Amino acid sequence: MDLYQKYPIRLRINEQDREFDVESWVTLLDLLRERAGLTGTKKGCDHGQCGACTVLVDGKRVNSCLTLAVMQNGHEVTTIEGMAKGNELHPLQQAFIEQDAFQCGYCTPGQICSAAGLIAEGQARCRDDVRELMSGNLCRCGAYPQIARAVIQVMGIEEPDTKKEGFTTGAVLT
Ligand code: FES
Ligand code: FES
Repeated sequence: MDLYQKYPIRLRINEQDREFDVESWVTLLDLLRERAGLTGTKKGCDHGQCGACTVLVDGKRVNSCLTLAVMQNGHEVTTIEGMAKGNELHPLQQAFIEQDAFQCGYCTPGQICSAAGLIAEGQARCRDDVRELMSGNLCRCGAYPQIARAVIQVMGIEEPDTKKEGFTTGAVLT
């Protein structure tokens, strides 16, 4: 078996049709970063534990380090570079700025793609749901309260009364 045999694939990435010849073992993450020139998607752990590599495939959030590029042949991929429309930021990008929801920013592309997927899933009804359903996206800077606030802002969910509910600023998500 020729490990370096290449397979032709087509992907629609950020509303552009792209074609690649890739080896069967190339992950979607490596294809995006190293062959498509889209380095907004980050590599943290490279084995499904941090969520930094989250992108949307056909609108669903996926850890791009855990899927092979050839498996996504014919599918539509959205990365952080595809979230803004022209000069207009995606509402989640705007909310992350307004809520100060990042520090180093390394996890942010994955957080935003994951949040977009979460909102599309329609399962989150409250702050705790957001915290639970975003728990696959780690932030080593600990910006979890602000990240949750940004997502809640876009979803239009009321913030809890922090005094009544004993909410502690700086509490971590997990
Ligand atoms: S780089 Fe994919 S989950 Fe960490
Ligand atoms: S902002 Fe630094 S890891 Fe999340």
